[in-house]
Amino acid sequence: MNEVLSRDADTQVSAIVAEKICKEIISGGARLTILDDLDLQIAAGESVAILGRSGSGKTTLLSLLAGLDSPTRGDVRLAGQSLGALDEDGRARLRAGRVGFVFQSFQLLSGLTALENVMLPAELAGLADAGQRAQDMLTQVGLAARTTHYPHQLSGGEQQRVALARAFAASPSILFADEPTGNLDVATGSSIIEQLFAMNRSRGTTLVLVTHDQQLAARCGRTVTLEAGKLVERSAGPRA
Ligand SMILES: Nc1ncnc2c1ncn2[C@@H]1O[C@H](COP(=O)(O)OP(=O)(O)OP(=O)(O)O)[C@@H](O)[C@H]1O
Ligand SMILES: [Mg+2]
Repeated sequence: MNEVLSRDADTQVSAIVAEKICKEIISGGARLTILDDLDLQIAAGESVAILGRSGSGKTTLLSLLAGLDSPTRGDVRLAGQSLGALDEDGRARLRAGRVGFVFQSFQLLSGLTALENVMLPAELAGLADAGQRAQDMLTQVGLAARTTHYPHQLSGGEQQRVALARAFAASPSILFADEPTGNLDVATGSSIIEQLFAMNRSRGTTLVLVTHDQQLAARCGRTVTLEAGKLVERSAGPRA
């Protein structure tokens, strides 16, 4: 009973709690441990940068925290709800309207225009003004003149900005982004960073960002680094 009470108290302030999560993959007959008994707590409204070398497991960790993938062991609680206790539909319902995700590979739907891609999550969340929101978001990321383009008609950086606009459009309370400035020039990247942190300030959006971009990491309240399947936490700002 005490355990239940303390969990409830702790989830009031924690947007995300990962407890002893492990991710193992069997590949070519060998077992590969990507994440090893990893713990992480992120408070509502916090901004956290996840750093680490290529292949260290950053994308894997982000997918587990967002409930897009399941850990081999351990559990993640998102907005107070244990993801391990939900089936895939339950996790999708929990994410809808609450979680925004910007994938490293963008994952735009190829048969939909930029505007339609951005409208989709807002429509799924049942927002009446999805079209207008999508238009506004595309304007904010500098793509007002590209709304009718399909993904294959957009440059890599433009696709990345459509993916960001899509994640912003449903006003998520938690935004996960995998290298959100990875394909952008410095000026466009700076403008995206300003938009991320404006959302963090004005709406209290929790930001969980995987990045190699020191400018972006430096803006986050906290930086954690993945090394050998574990997180190394630094309370001061990141070092170059
Ligand atoms: N489905 C899979 N099967 C086998 N190995 C996998 C699978 N998914 C990921 N891996 C391995 O897990 C490790 C972590 O991958 P992950 O994509 O999380 O790394 P990352 O830190 O995001 O790297 P990057 O900075 O290059 O994006 C890599 O060594 C990768 O090869
Ligand atoms: Mg990655």
